[in-house]
Amino acid sequence: MAEGPKLGFAAFTPPSKGVLILFCDEKLQFGPAARRVLTPTGDLVARAAASEKFTGKSGSALELVLPAGLDVARLVIIGLGKASELTAKDFIRFGGAAMGRVPSTATDAVIFADMPSGMMKAGQAADLALGVRLRGYSFDRYKTKRKEGEDKPQTATVTIGVYDPPAVKKAWLGRQAVADGVVIARDLINEPANVLYPQEFARRAEALKKVGVSVEVLDEKTMKKLGMHALLGVGQGSVRDSQVVIMRWNGGKKGADPVAFIGKGVCFDTGGISIKPAAGMEDMKGDMAGAACVVGLMHALAARKAKVNAIGAIGLVENMPDGNAQRPGDIVTTMSGQTIEIINTDAEGRLVLADVLHYVETKYKPKFMIDLATLTGAIMVALGQEYAGLFSNDDKLSERLAKAGEASGERVWRMPLGPEYDKMIDSKFADMKNTGGRWGGSITAAQLLQRFVGKTPWAHLDIAGTALGSPQTDINKSWSAGWGVRLLERLVADHYEK
Ligand code: BES
Ligand code: MN
Ligand code: ZN
Repeated sequence: MAEGPKLGFAAFTPPSKGVLILFCDEKLQFGPAARRVLTPTGDLVARAAASEKFTGKSGSALELVLPAGLDVARLVIIGLGKASELTAKDFIRFGGAAMGRVPSTATDAVIFADMPSGMMKAGQAADLALGVRLRGYSFDRYKTKRKEGEDKPQTATVTIGVYDPPAVKKAWLGRQAVADGVVIARDLINEPANVLYPQEFARRAEALKKVGVSVEVLDEKTMKKLGMHALLGVGQGSVRDSQVVIMRWNGGKKGADPVAFIGKGVCFDTGGISIKPAAGMEDMKGDMAGAACVVGLMHALAARKAKVNAIGAIGLVENMPDGNAQRPGDIVTTMSGQTIEIINTDAEGRLVLADVLHYVETKYKPKFMIDLATLTGAIMVALGQEYAGLFSNDDKLSERLAKAGEASGERVWRMPLGPEYDKMIDSKFADMKNTGGRWGGSITAAQLLQRFVGKTPWAHLDIAGTALGSPQTDINKSWSAGWGVRLLERLVADHYEK
């Protein structure tokens, strides 16, 4: 992880060097602070805009080098589009767009949190800063040299010019917790599997103790005693020990039922004996993105002292083929007592989650359980990379997730469940089998999970499409967007804090 930009907040003052970034709407109107700083430039911006056909369209930019009348090296104008209909996710995106215009060679940049309707409110300016932080992220721990023309990581000092710095700094604290959570998730996902194997992942999760999360690690011996043979079966072909990590944040009422988040943490998925083809297999270092999101989320909730009791539980394994690996045809007994016939050792995520879901459900009796998993290639066929698949036994939880998705920009699309699909995973030899045939692969995977959640309100997010090889956006240029941290933080903030 690179340091990223150094963020600060200060009262509006015209900078004397570096990059100055201002916002305008689709009528090329500026806010009061921007108008003041632009006064000595006369009609420069209007002429440049006309010449470049810049119309202030949302997210577009106009760049002026050495603008006459100002002391800065570069002036950037970013379009807000229709500036009357902006929500939190827009301010985050504009922060990202602004950061994207800071050259990697720049040492200083100032962004005016100002728009035609007036100075941005504290929360809006803090959202801008969140976008700056997310856009400034890059994973370059393993880059020891750079070719000419290759971008250096961002190290500029970025100052957000605001009306009331103390108020914005206060609003930033909550956003900073979320930003750090997203960065934690991205770092874990980008890290290669020779470095990040289950025990190392567990160690990194233990760092959450610093923000007040209690962290408990279950080793293989403990899992055997508990009867987690579905999870253990997946890991048995690996020389790395499997782990389950339970994280607890108690910021809510004493004794109140917790909310629970469960993550698939397959540190590497070769497919096992049902081995995957070579092409693209390197991406399977990211098959722990669900677990990474849970760690990032727990950080976010604890660091901003969320008024909620929350459990994060992750199943960490490596799915490898070797002489001790699990075979197709094997039958495993899960902690719940239900048996599963292994048809395809590459359908391993559901086996891991079966035991962790059951453990959390019976031990903590949570208000709800939400699991995140890079579970099926089929969800990418269905939804591409824009929406995660949502499967749930609870309409209210589904609606809240869908709303939080629209608000955060991390969107979910509800998929069906039902007895007809459930039948598809009945087995000749055991209570169920781990694959359901060619059709509806994401649905039959979810049906298997549902057999381990009892009556608890539950939602499963299949994030195979959204978590890895993320589309490039204004707020993410990295291989992984750390998808889900902002969505679930928003869900908790909107509905589960008192
Ligand atoms: N981890 C994969 C799913 C995946 C694929 C995630 C591509 C991200 C990108 C999962 O363990 C898997 O292999 N699923 C199989 C299931 C099949 C064997 C029933 C799949 O989707 O092909
Ligand atoms: Mn697999
Ligand atoms: Zn997998």
